[in-house]
Amino acid sequence: MKAAVCERYGPPEVLKIVDLPKPSPKPTEVLIRIYATSVNSGDVRVRGLLVDGWIKPLMRVVIGMRGPRNPILGASLSGEVVQVGEQVTTFKVGDRVCAMTGFRMRCYAEYTTLSAEKCIAHIPDTMTYEEGASLPFGVTTAYHFLRKAQVERAKTVCIYGASGAVGTAAVQIAKSYGCFVTTVTSLENIELMKQLGADEAISYKQADWATRLGTFDLVFDAVGKLSKEDRARLMHETTKFTSIHGKGTAAERKEDLEAAGRLFVQGQFQPVIDRIYPIEDIVEAHRYAESWRKKGNVILTI
Ligand SMILES: NC(=O)c1ccc[n+]([C@@H]2O[C@H](COP(=O)([O-])OP(=O)(O)OC[C@H]3O[C@@H](n4cnc5c(N)ncnc54)[C@H](OP(=O)(O)O)[C@@H]3O)[C@@H](O)[C@H]2O)c1
Repeated sequence: MKAAVCERYGPPEVLKIVDLPKPSPKPTEVLIRIYATSVNSGDVRVRGLLVDGWIKPLMRVVIGMRGPRNPILGASLSGEVVQVGEQVTTFKVGDRVCAMTGFRMRCYAEYTTLSAEKCIAHIPDTMTYEEGASLPFGVTTAYHFLRKAQVERAKTVCIYGASGAVGTAAVQIAKSYGCFVTTVTSLENIELMKQLGADEAISYKQADWATRLGTFDLVFDAVGKLSKEDRARLMHETTKFTSIHGKGTAAERKEDLEAAGRLFVQGQFQPVIDRIYPIEDIVEAHRYAESWRKKGNVILTI
């Protein structure tokens, strides 16, 4: 099968297209023909070992000293189930699915195997494979951190850095909880925020932006770049704060993928796809994702 591999940490050019044996499913697993995957911030960080301080040596010990022990990166996929292990009852051949494989990765390939119990869900008939691949990373992360901060109790939510994979999912999920949502992005992304249903969309480039806003029940830093000063300006006595940095790793829940699928069918969730590349252009796709300026998701088709 065709796969993109990263055999040593480095710039996007370390990624190579190779031919590898097709995996076979264990009794509890499904075999998926992957049609689309996404290049997300996690893949870029692993490929380039782009993490700070003490996390770097720790990451080498955990995932590989000179390069990832598992060289096939990619943590989110969309495709078709083509074989099921004898103990699998929840999926059948022909099912259209999306999945988040997390640290197991292995999505930059034509085929992968995955336990049917993991974070894998059916996608709606009207959802394309490209859209399906855009869901898992942002949706599971946004649900995790919003839920942790009790979004269900919040009436007003401010999402800082709302234009990435996590942010665009968070805006729409917070809206689905009935929150009044204020987004903070660059000027360039204000229109996108309005399209996604933000009630108030402001730019962090405006002077004193953080002091001009009202009070919030919840502030979510979806890119981990909110300054201490601006955070202090946004926080009031009862404001809860959550961030994708320094608060652990998001859980991967299939229920969250199913929930996003239902919102999509109801017209309440719009997958945000910035660019689509064939997997052969993976170097270019990683270069773009590493600009840290992508809007929503970058997709690879296989
Ligand atoms: N803890 C976890 O489990 C977990 C899980 C997933 C992701 N993460 C982390 O979450 C972060 C976001 O992930 P992602 O995939 O959503 O990233 P992404 O898609 O690469 O984010 C790109 C967006 O970030 C915005 N941005 C860049 N610099 C900014 C700044 N200074 N202030 C505000 N916005 C800024 C850009 O919008 P503008 O051009 O509008 O600024 C761009 O649209 C990453 O650092 C990732 O490592 C953590």
